[in-house]
Amino acid sequence: MTRFYAPEYLADLEDSWTGRPGTPGELPWLPYPSEEFNALMVWVRIHAQVNATYFELGAGIGTKVLMAQQGGFRASGVEICELYAAKARQLGAAVQLGDVRSERTLEQVALSDVVYMNHPLADRLEEFKLEQAVQARLRPGAILVTVRSANPPHGSPWSVLCQLREGDLAVRKDSGR
Ligand SMILES: C[S@@+](CC[C@H](N)C(=O)[O-])C[C@H]1O[C@@H](n2cnc3c(N)ncnc32)[C@H](O)[C@@H]1O
Repeated sequence: MTRFYAPEYLADLEDSWTGRPGTPGELPWLPYPSEEFNALMVWVRIHAQVNATYFELGAGIGTKVLMAQQGGFRASGVEICELYAAKARQLGAAVQLGDVRSERTLEQVALSDVVYMNHPLADRLEEFKLEQAVQARLRPGAILVTVRSANPPHGSPWSVLCQLREGDLAVRKDSGR
């Protein structure tokens, strides 16, 4: 049976895991504030189709995957840290162990209706290149929610659905260009 978690419970869980070491050499768990995530997801829900898929890069303990799931998405994610991914699965979030830099991750990006990323990589240039690759692989009509972005997409072919701050936004890819 699918469990339902109160938003306050998930927010407290995010706080209590902040500072726990992740995979050496990679960024640790640094959650995006859940109220701001939910503000962006309001816009995403307005524009996404019913039963849309949601895929998260660097899903950590799976709290955002659960929030998306509880918001009606078929949600999953990829995470490099075994400890975080195990906690996510214990909570009931479909988080697989893997690297956001892998071809497998980009294949999942290409199949998803909604993609969420919060600057998973420690190195700014690597992050810039990852965001470029994700933007190129998203299919027309897909929605990208990208926060703390090193490479916020603007202009053709992107429609901005909601922007909270520079680098924190939800956009839809309108064409394949
Ligand atoms: C900034 S936290 C984001 C957490 C969550 N997505 C959020 O927005 O609240 C970055 C997450 O990415 C994971 N991560 C770091 N490098 C990764 C990599 N190469 N592949 C997959 N996950 C990675 C970290 O372990 C961490 O859980």
